[in-house]
Amino acid sequence: MTAQADSAPAPLTIPGWRFVAAGKVRELYVPQEGHPTWGSDVVLVVASDRISAYDHVLATPIPDKGAILTALSAWWFEQLADVVDHHLVSLDVPAEVAGRAMICRRLEMYPVECVARGYLTGSGLEEYRVSRTVCGVPLPEGLVDASRLPEPIFTPAAKAAVGDHDENVTYERVAEMVGPDVAAALRGTTLAVYRRALEIAGERGILLADTKLELGADPALGASSIVLGDEVLTPDSSRFWDSSLWAPGERSRASTSSSCATGSPRTPRGGTARATPRRRSCRTPSSSARASATWRRSSGSRAAPSADQGRSRALAAHEWGRHAA
Ligand SMILES: Nc1ncnc2c1ncn2[C@@H]1O[C@H](COP(=O)(O)OP(=O)(O)O)[C@@H](O)[C@H]1O
Ligand SMILES: [Mg+2]
Repeated sequence: MTAQADSAPAPLTIPGWRFVAAGKVRELYVPQEGHPTWGSDVVLVVASDRISAYDHVLATPIPDKGAILTALSAWWFEQLADVVDHHLVSLDVPAEVAGRAMICRRLEMYPVECVARGYLTGSGLEEYRVSRTVCGVPLPEGLVDASRLPEPIFTPAAKAAVGDHDENVTYERVAEMVGPDVAAALRGTTLAVYRRALEIAGERGILLADTKLELGADPALGASSIVLGDEVLTPDSSRFWDSSLWAPGERSRASTSSSCATGSPRTPRGGTARATPRRRSCRTPSSSARASATWRRSSGSRAAPSADQGRSRALAAHEWGRHAA
């Protein structure tokens, strides 16, 4: 049985920043008037030490988890910079959240969890066993847990409201939600990120089984722009396996994603990353990400977010509004 936190923790007091919303793991703050970033369209994204499992927050945090998620994401944003634009602006954040926060461009997040899978496991395997498809993508007969897929596939999920589970959907459904052009861009970007990360991790003996991205539009770049937001290629969003232990049908032996004792940080569509001894680990993100992160936008118009094209805001309007006063 997993203990669940019964209420969201109180927001931090961060001089110059005002709390606007909380997800299961992260909190978002916007600049207060007078702050140097006031007038630019940025958010302070603070990663807590909370554990989210199956879309619930567990009662026991892991010390420094938020700092590790932040450092990993910063490193990967830089590695992927020629594949996809990202939201990180600066790691020069207030002392209260040092190491666990990023100043980011504020995006209008697409309401889609963009998942790429190169291997079959978790919810993908469950669907395959029933229908020989994953998110409507037909797959060959004879695949087992941890089988390598003929090629990486895009298996999106619709982002659920807080407290609900994300739901695997077909590509056609995504096209209905965000329009065919954006859907094609989400799929293309997600698969390009997956392939790049597969290569980088592979050079270090780590196999990236699948990963989940959150992409959004930067209003300053256009309503259909594609920018990588949130976190990327962390153990919360991805399954990492030890390449030397991988064998189809023996997924648990190869698993390297860390996990809380009760079992399951959030992975694409609530799959389980098993707790097995870590034999190798990803190289620690270098400080170069920190050093090279610079202000990309010193100013910017506050373009009003549009609610068209089926796109949701990063956070439900009522959440922003509730804390805006
Ligand atoms: N640059 C950004 N601009 C606006 N919203 C963002 C940005 N980056 C991440 N977000 C949103 O902030 C929230 C982060 O909280 P998190 O705890 O990770 O959410 P979740 O509970 O969905 O995992 C998510 O809703 C995510 O879409
Ligand atoms: Mg998230």
